[in-house]
Amino acid sequence: MTEITAKQQDVMVRPATNQSLQGRIRVPGDKSISHRALMLGAIAVGETTIEGLLLGEDPRSTASCFRALGADISELNTQLVRVQGVGGEPGKSLLLEPADILNAGNSGTTLRLMLGILASQPDRFFTVTGDSSLRSRPMSRVVKPLQQMGAQIWGRVGSSRAPLAVLGQNLQPIHYHSPIASAQVKSCILLAGLMTSGKTTVTEPALSRDHSERMLRAFGAEIEVDPEARRVTIAGPCQLQGQKVVVPGDISSAAFWLVAGSIVPGSELIVENVGVNPTRTGILEALQMMDADIEFLDEKIVAGEPVADLRVRWQQLKACTIAGDIIPRLIDEIPILAVAAAFAKGTTVIRDAAELRVKESDRLQAMAKELNELGANVRELPDGLEIVGGASLKGTEVDSHDDHRVAMSLAIAALGAQGSTTIHRAASAAISYPDFSATLEKIAPS
Ligand code: S3P
Repeated sequence: MTEITAKQQDVMVRPATNQSLQGRIRVPGDKSISHRALMLGAIAVGETTIEGLLLGEDPRSTASCFRALGADISELNTQLVRVQGVGGEPGKSLLLEPADILNAGNSGTTLRLMLGILASQPDRFFTVTGDSSLRSRPMSRVVKPLQQMGAQIWGRVGSSRAPLAVLGQNLQPIHYHSPIASAQVKSCILLAGLMTSGKTTVTEPALSRDHSERMLRAFGAEIEVDPEARRVTIAGPCQLQGQKVVVPGDISSAAFWLVAGSIVPGSELIVENVGVNPTRTGILEALQMMDADIEFLDEKIVAGEPVADLRVRWQQLKACTIAGDIIPRLIDEIPILAVAAAFAKGTTVIRDAAELRVKESDRLQAMAKELNELGANVRELPDGLEIVGGASLKGTEVDSHDDHRVAMSLAIAALGAQGSTTIHRAASAAISYPDFSATLEKIAPS
């Protein structure tokens, strides 16, 4: 039986003992695609319509920043959002100089992608900040390449932490060899290159999500992609044209239900309309390595992105090793994979994932600590986790570390524990999945 009671910011989850999880689930729109649709719509000429936008806190941060920069964005209260872009002559400043500080809230994608756009607006001055988590996250990974392009950016800790001040410039194109496989870094530079005369190229060490490349091309940018060389080139300056965007369901949100269905005996769930872009499906490959029973139903292409319904049926999981080039393709799913590993037979090792230490929280530390509170056997490694599966979990009090993915991962772990679990500060789930608790209640009613 599962019961969720929201008291202040805490959520209580009762275990799903003697009850399998059954049903069909529609997950909210993809967060990465939602940010990009709002941003490209905001700088394009004419109207962009976005169907299926994620109505979470992070896209709201993007919308409020780009409204302050002059775009007309309809209220984020229906899944059809209209954006009137500020687009104009290629290479000229498009954006208004806002009268106040732009606040990206908790959203690294908002801040890092927006910096590429702001740095390339000649003669405009901007200040940007975020919440305490975002203000502690490294920005040098985008500030340094932008400075190589001639950007003027100032801030704390050698211009590596928000708040940051930006004086927009006519930038120079570069070929940037990124030391990390980060879609935020790649996208920031491509967006700066959009306004810059000449060819701007990014090469990354492993392939990260390619939503920017797909959407920039759909909006009319001249983009060359060489996936083998992990190289993308954009030719600027270029004026984007407003488009009709359809946002698929977020595979990062679907991952919670795929793991829930894999750990609660007898379960069968269908998660509908999930984006299955190959740069995001590392989670499916990892779960399949763990013997999960996941099937693709009704695969199709919707507005340039592959989409499918995913059926999961319970099956005993086994341990595996997750490391190397797969990591960027499942980077946001490592917290929920750690939960799957706690229920698997054998010892799962996750490596090459030090990036998790600079996400919304230190996710390696947070997941090791909180899963161990529940009775799991998790050891933190410098760049990953070692999880000895099969310990029986017991409900207790745990904390989300104010991180949406940690909160939801712990709720799924609690489904498989004995006794109730209270998750403190669980309201952070609204960053990417406002209806998470309602869906949990639907598939495992109290
Ligand atoms: C994102 C890229 C990833 C991911 C984040 C969203 C994006 O971050 O973790 O949740 O939309 O580009 P990194 O680029 O830092 O890996």
